[in-house]
Amino acid sequence: MTTVDQLAHRFGIVLDPDSVSGGLSGSAVRRGTRADGTPAVVKIRFAESGFDRVAAERELTFYRELAGDLGIKTPELLAHHQSDDCVAILLSAPGTIRPAPDWTHDHWLALAGDLAALHETPVPDGGLWRHAPDGEVPGSDPDRWRSYWDRPGEAELFAPIFDDPGALTAAVRAQPFCFNHGDCHTDNILITEAGLVWADWQVAGFGRPAGELAFAAGRAAPSGATPPLAEIIKLYADRRGLDAAELARSVLAAELSTALFAWPAYAGYNSSAGIDRVHGRAVDLARRWLTEV
Ligand SMILES: Nc1ncnc2c1ncn2[C@@H]1O[C@H](COP(=O)(O)OP(=O)(O)OP(=O)(O)O)[C@@H](O)[C@H]1O
Ligand SMILES: [Mg+2]
Repeated sequence: MTTVDQLAHRFGIVLDPDSVSGGLSGSAVRRGTRADGTPAVVKIRFAESGFDRVAAERELTFYRELAGDLGIKTPELLAHHQSDDCVAILLSAPGTIRPAPDWTHDHWLALAGDLAALHETPVPDGGLWRHAPDGEVPGSDPDRWRSYWDRPGEAELFAPIFDDPGALTAAVRAQPFCFNHGDCHTDNILITEAGLVWADWQVAGFGRPAGELAFAAGRAAPSGATPPLAEIIKLYADRRGLDAAELARSVLAAELSTALFAWPAYAGYNSSAGIDRVHGRAVDLARRWLTEV
C-alpha cells in the first residue's frame, strides 16, 4: 500500500507539517518544499477503480497531454506516480488562492478572457474527457426541486419553470460544445502577478460555454461575492465572436437551471447566510428569465 510519506520521498519533497487538506472530492492535497526551496503540492487519490480513479487518471492525462496547448496557465506537472492503489501528481504551486469576495474586477475579467481562450481551443474527443449532461436537467428529481423551494412566493414564481425545464436546457444549448475546465470556481484558480493559474482538472471535458460561465458565477453566490457577470459575458463573447445578448440569455438559463435543479443537493454544505443568498439569487434569475425576452 502506497503512503503519502513514500510519495513525498519519491518526489523529493519535504511535506509541510500543517498542510493536511483533504479536498471535497476525496483527494489528499499536501503542500511541500522541493530540494531547490520552491513550493509544490502533492495531490493523491487512493482509488483502484471507479469514478475517483477515472478522475485522477483524467487529471494526470490533462497535465501530460493537453496543459501546454490551451492558451491559459496551469501549474506545472513536476512528477507523477501511478500504482494499483493510487494516482499521485506533484505540481508547482504558484500564487495564492483567494476566496470569491476578495477577487477584484480585473480578476473576474481575467477569468472571462481565460475561459474564452480555453473554450476556443479545439480538443479531440477521447475516452477520458468528461461529457457534461446536455439535454437532461441536472440532478433530475422533480419531487426534490418542488419540495425544496418552499419559501414564500417561490413555488408560484418557479411553477412555470418546473413545468417546462426543457426551455432552460434549450437556451443553454444555443452555443456549441467546447472543452471545459468543468469545476470553474475560485478555490481552483491560483492568482499570480502574471495572471490566473488554473488547477484541479479532474472533471475536464466537453460542455456548453454558458454552463461553465454560469457555474463560475453560481459558485460565488453563497459567499456574497458579486462577479461582474454582464462584463464577463461581453468580454468573453467579443473574444469568441459570439452574440453577447444570446450568450447572456444562455448563461441566465444555465445559472437558473443549476440553482433550481442541482443546487438543493449541495445546500447542506453552505451556511444559512449562503443559503439565503442563493434563494435571493434564484428569485432574481427566475424573474429575469420569465420577463426578459
Ligand atoms: N498547484 C497548486 N498550487 C497551490 N495550491 C493548490 C494547487 N493545487 C491545489 N491547490 C490547493 O488545494 C486545494 C485542493 O486541490 P484540488 O482542487 O486540486 O483538489 P480537489 O480534491 O479537487 O479538492 P476539491 O474537491 O476541494 O475541489 C485547492 O482548492 C487549492 O487550494
Ligand atoms: Mg478543487
